[in-house]
Amino acid sequence: MNDVLTKNISDFDEKEIKINGWVYNSRRSGKIGFLMLRDGYGIVQCIIEKSHVGDDSFNLFKTFTQESSVSIIGTVVKNDRAPGGYEIFVNSFKVYQISVDYPITPKEHGTDFLMNHRHLWLRSKRQHSILRIRHQIIKSIRDFFDMNEFTLIDTPIFTPNAAEGTSTLFETDYFDSKAYLCQTGQLYGEASSMAFGRHYNFGPCFRAEKSKTRRHLTEFWMVEPEIAFCDIQENMNWAEKLIVYIFQEVINNRKDELKVLDRDISFLENVKAPFPKISYTECINLLNEGGFDIKWGDDFGSPEETFISEKYNNPVIVYGFPAAIKAFYMKRDPENEKVVLGMDILAPEGYGEIVGGSEREVDIDVLLERIDEEGLNRKDYEWFLDLRKFGSVPHSGFGMGLERMVAWVCGLSHIRETIPFARTMSRLNP
Ligand code: 4AD
Ligand code: MG
Repeated sequence: MNDVLTKNISDFDEKEIKINGWVYNSRRSGKIGFLMLRDGYGIVQCIIEKSHVGDDSFNLFKTFTQESSVSIIGTVVKNDRAPGGYEIFVNSFKVYQISVDYPITPKEHGTDFLMNHRHLWLRSKRQHSILRIRHQIIKSIRDFFDMNEFTLIDTPIFTPNAAEGTSTLFETDYFDSKAYLCQTGQLYGEASSMAFGRHYNFGPCFRAEKSKTRRHLTEFWMVEPEIAFCDIQENMNWAEKLIVYIFQEVINNRKDELKVLDRDISFLENVKAPFPKISYTECINLLNEGGFDIKWGDDFGSPEETFISEKYNNPVIVYGFPAAIKAFYMKRDPENEKVVLGMDILAPEGYGEIVGGSEREVDIDVLLERIDEEGLNRKDYEWFLDLRKFGSVPHSGFGMGLERMVAWVCGLSHIRETIPFARTMSRLNP
């Protein structure tokens, strides 16, 4: 007999099937038992009648506890009142393990307790929905780039290069020397874009973020396209198209999960290109009018980002940042040397920066000057400067933080639920 997934049982009306799973809930009413079985794809109601399965089996059923593992053999029966429209009339079953004192019960638990039991919390409906949406977003990102002729090239995790400033580096011993965990794959993406034209990398990045916020992880996933013969305007267009595509795909494929999360779909449906654009200088003016004590040259923190993004229903593209607060590789604006051709995309509803990107500096002298200013070692960047010597072209790219996207799409108040096992300043376990 074939094993069937709960989501497919309607294809087996009146047939006998086998379902493997875990007890979500079980109760009895006299000689009839009701078992809610979850299998990772859904939950199905199973009916166990004492007169049909016999006394021994019925007594064993009475011992079922939350998260006990079982296989059920039974007949699929249509029942409009059952969740999903079908239930299973049980003929026999096999018990793998009776679970004792499962710690996560239907009562309310504190977040810390749940994060300490993350390895079990993943089984709950809400976490399950969030991580299925995460999977969908990953798939949509990959489909988008694959459809548009980008090549996936993996970038290394051990690296000698600091690309996003030296204050958030994780350093590790590397035989007789030191290495860092990558903050970004970008520098390698630039090499790859000169080989493949349109490149993307998608993997974990690491930053020793010493602040405890609801937007920062120390280990997070970033997707980074890098595109040869592409300026900052085209770069913005790619980012916009990607975000719109992700939303379309999540709405088309993950309605049930969004419903579990009580996510208002109309908000998501409103995300449409083109996104509004605003310069950094205009932002400073708006912030000053709004009572913020900030001057030209200062970086935005979360409150500033939230203030700006709340003025829009769509994501907003901020451009024209001061060079001094941005990474060394961003191209100076030829019309104003003080600013760079960089962009940040801020999500609405206070989700903050989801994308950071730029056109890349191609002038070796400017790059050397910036490398020195950042206190970086020129020797470690020789390979990177080679890219400006052999067929250098204008090129651009961006990075999108996967977990920030998931938080926004799902409408979550904290980033810790967007990744299976969150790593933050105060958490390395489980
Ligand atoms: O703006 P960032 O630092 O840009 C880069 O790393 C570039 N090298 C990307 C590129 O151009 N190829 O980071 C990009 C995005 C942010 O907008 C944010 O969404 C996410 O990565 N991010 C984080 N997400 C969670 N926790 C953190 N600590 C994050 N730091 C950045
Ligand atoms: Mg950034």
